[in-house]
Amino acid sequence: MSAGSLRVIVVVGARPNFVKVAPIVRAMAAWNVSDGARLRFCPVLVHTGQHYDPAMSSLVWDDVGLPEPDYFLGVGSGSHAEQTAAVMVEFEKVLREEQPHLVVVVGDVNSTLAAALVCAMEGVPVAHVEAGLRSGDRTMPEEVNRLLTDHLSDLLFTTCPDGDANLVAEGIPQDRLRRVGNTMIDSLERCRDAALRSPILDDLGLAPRRYCLVTLHRPANVDDDVGLDRLEGFLGWVSASLPVVYPVHPRARVGLGRLATKRADPLRLLLVDPAGYVDFVRLMSMARLVLTDSGGVQEETSVLGVPCVTLRSSTERPVTIAEGTNHLVSADDLDLARRVVREILDEKPDYASRRPALWDGHAGVRVVEAIAEWASTAGAGKTAAVVAGEDQEAKKHARPVR
Ligand code: UD1
Repeated sequence: MSAGSLRVIVVVGARPNFVKVAPIVRAMAAWNVSDGARLRFCPVLVHTGQHYDPAMSSLVWDDVGLPEPDYFLGVGSGSHAEQTAAVMVEFEKVLREEQPHLVVVVGDVNSTLAAALVCAMEGVPVAHVEAGLRSGDRTMPEEVNRLLTDHLSDLLFTTCPDGDANLVAEGIPQDRLRRVGNTMIDSLERCRDAALRSPILDDLGLAPRRYCLVTLHRPANVDDDVGLDRLEGFLGWVSASLPVVYPVHPRARVGLGRLATKRADPLRLLLVDPAGYVDFVRLMSMARLVLTDSGGVQEETSVLGVPCVTLRSSTERPVTIAEGTNHLVSADDLDLARRVVREILDEKPDYASRRPALWDGHAGVRVVEAIAEWASTAGAGKTAAVVAGEDQEAKKHARPVR
């Protein structure tokens, strides 16, 4: 391995990014103090500000143990084009100032693609964490973000074999791929003890294994009245069997306010603010059933052994169906959803963890080891030469943070 410093910008924008990146940032710090580490990581943490509400940002940020960001770009909300463009404009300034050897992006949000695109234009190598996931549905902005980010990336960290297969089928050279497992599960494992101490169940008056947890925020499910009406009927039906608790994402807040005033039995449908990560892990772990349209929740419930019904017509995470606890049901077919929920509630649950290979809590370490190895090889090209010749701390620039 080359001696020297590797300046790595790590980019996050939205809530799920924080959960995926924290184990990597931590593993870089651990690497730096480990015996015999001749390469030193100098991480620069950039928060684009795509998510900015305390409930969407700082609550989760603090729970997953991220340090203060070095840069907060404050891009906020907007159309996809506005948001992506705003991240690009602001991130380009950071990139030029920091001149990193590598930029790490995660997941599939607008900030992910925006940062990767700027890197490609500026000739800076990109590593994509959670590469290769495909739903096959290009009407989802996340699918477009995933696809383009992967094709702009120099290093692609995958969570499962089908991720590798998707990338190879799209012509991405195998030598760019590294299967490292799932960094989101690293965060889950780290927070489990803290979650045991969370008072959230008592606070909400919920009994363990006697409630259904809901997280629905996809535009297709919550942006229009037709979708919301369907949801109203379905969640009302579920709540006849067991109480339903729903931490409401801001996107769904307006419409669901309407739903809340119309619901039949207000006591059994609990609409609450978005939870911090530790409280949310507690809510997931002790649920009888989870209904979601999120990506990460499909993975987390599998590892927690909690039955999950994903109300979408496709998933980019089929491993959670093949090996996990996930059931995919289109939100257009709520009769089927009722049947699936009924079957789950009628069967005796075992809550046994379903854990795909390498979802073991150590993916962040593998990411960092793979980056170090990449930096030391000829494959890293110019970067390897630059790293070998340098041995200085990354400059930190005082910037307003969160
Ligand atoms: C984004 C991601 C989605 C991810 C989700 C996690 C994209 C295309 N989508 O969706 O993949 O699952 O984050 O939560 O990047 N808002 C607030 N406060 C906030 C953030 C958002 O009020 O802190 C509101 C705004 O009205 C905004 C809306 O929520 O317009 C949607 O936010 P946005 O970041 O555009 O997309 P998400 O739906 O959160």
